[in-house]
Order: sequence, then structure tokens, then C-alpha cells
Amino acid sequence: MVPAPATDTPDGAAIRWIDVHKAFGEKKVLAGVDLEVARGDSMVIIGGSGTGKSVLLKHVIGLLRPDRGRVEVDGVDVASLGSTELTGFRRRFGMAFQEGALFDSMTVAENIAFPLRRSGRLTQAETHARVEECLEMVHLEGAGSKRPGELSGGMRRRVGFARAVALEPAILLFDEPTSGLDPVMTGTIDELIIELREKLGSTTLTITHDMASAFRIADQIAMLCDGRILVTAPPDEFRNLQDPRVQQFLRGEARGPLTDDTESAPHETGESP
Ligand SMILES: Nc1ncnc2c1ncn2[C@@H]1O[C@H](COP(=O)(O)OP(=O)(O)OP(=O)(O)O)[C@@H](O)[C@H]1O
Ligand SMILES: [Mg+2]
Repeated sequence: MVPAPATDTPDGAAIRWIDVHKAFGEKKVLAGVDLEVARGDSMVIIGGSGTGKSVLLKHVIGLLRPDRGRVEVDGVDVASLGSTELTGFRRRFGMAFQEGALFDSMTVAENIAFPLRRSGRLTQAETHARVEECLEMVHLEGAGSKRPGELSGGMRRRVGFARAVALEPAILLFDEPTSGLDPVMTGTIDELIIELREKLGSTTLTITHDMASAFRIADQIAMLCDGRILVTAPPDEFRNLQDPRVQQFLRGEARGPLTDDTESAPHETGESP
């Protein structure tokens, strides 16, 4: 069981980083991150490669712990949870991480069914129907019996997305959900993210290099720079910010995003978080 909230969140913050510092050896990655994601909001985090975006996200589910400061989810200090509590706590999230992390020994359908089965909320028939629905959602009808190793990098990414949203969780975490996808598929994923927020009121935190995506799906865009949040603003405002670091980033991404994965990328392996 997850303990009751340590602090109340009258302002409705779902996720909050408070003065978060994190270094790996000599390398300071986060140097005082303050950020809040309001419940039901879609927050997009952008920033250069290697600036610590994935590190920021991993703190939310307790995969990393801050050296200083605190990360709260629904008012709970994540670092206060023991390993058993963390396991339960992580089930409130749907997440698709940058590394892919599908179970290679399971079929695509089994991968998507995994969180559904574990929740014990659905019958076998309902699970089957939901898996089909999720496959359709990401345009992978008929791929259920394949193994992740038989799919392209982009297809695996879509399976990861489907698995993340299968249980319709209250908080969704996506690390580069559209990198390596063509513009049509990127649009589909963006639509799904928007729909989840509108229909279910899910809180969504997405890391992306794709500024077109960011402007489509975000209520708020936050930019990570030099270990801190440089600015947080709604898309329309963000576009017009005069800060040279923002403008440089927007111009750079307009020339072509930095993608680390393509439809034909080599196979990734990993364990599911
Ligand atoms: N577990 C770890 N041990 C040591 N160093 C790490 C670890 N995790 C991340 N780092 C380092 O922290 C820095 C930030 O990494 P991170 O993966 O968060 O970057 P990012 O902003 O997500 O980049 P990208 O856009 O390329 O995904 C990098 O220098 C990385 O090497
Ligand atoms: Mg990353």
C-alpha cells in the first residue's frame, strides 16, 4: 500500500519537483529543478540531448533518488517509499520509456496484456478485447502474435505506447514517444495523448524533441537547460519567448530533430519498468 499523502496538494499538483539536485560522480545533471505538473494537465519537457530530461522523469517513479530536494507525486515524497511500496506506487503510472523495454520473450499481445492481467481488474475476455482495441489504436492490428524482435523500432515504440495506456492510468509518462515515427504515426500518437487527457483527465508528462508534437499536445512546455527549468509556458507564449536559448532550441529543432531511433533502428532489449 502506498501511504497517505505526506502533504496536501490543495493546488492540485500531480507531480512536483522541489529543488531537485542530482549528480553522477563529478557530473552535475540536475542543479535545483523546481517544476509542477497540475492534475489533468499535459506537460511537455524539452531540452538539448543529455541535459537530464530522462533523469528528471526517472525521479518520478523512484528509479532515481535526488541527492538534494524532493519529488512528490500526489503529495507523496517518492524517496520515502520502500521497495515494496514503490512496486505498488508505480502501478498508478502508465509509462513508455525511451529504451523501449518490452518483454522480448512475450508476444506483442502478451506485452500489452501484462498490466491488465496484473491489475486483476478485467476478465480474460475483457483483457483480450482491450488488447485488440489497443493494437487498433496504434495501427498494429494483427501484430498481436508477433514477438518484439520481429518488429521495427517504430513499431516497438507503438507497442510500448499501447501497453502504457492499456489500463487508462491517472498519470502517463512518455519519454520520446514519437521519435523515429513518421509524421502520420506521430500525429496518431499525439491525438491519443490529447484524447486520454480529455476523456480520462489523465495527467501527462511527455519528453520530446519534436516541437510540432510539443505544440500540439502541451498545456505547458517546460525547458530544461543547465540543470534547471529555464522557463515554463503555454505553447503560444513559449513560441514567442525572446530568451536566446529558447529561440536557438526552437530554430535547431526546426532544422531537424535529434532522433535516436528510426523505424529501422537496431533492436532494443530491456526489462519493463
Ligand atoms: N544512471 C546513470 N549513471 C550515470 N550517468 C547517468 C545515468 N543516467 C544518466 N546519466 C547521465 O546524465 C546525463 C543526462 O542524461 P539523460 O539521459 O537524462 O539526458 P536526456 O536529456 O534524456 O538526453 P536525450 O535527449 O539524449 O535522451 C547524461 O550525461 C547521462 O550520461
Ligand atoms: Mg532521454
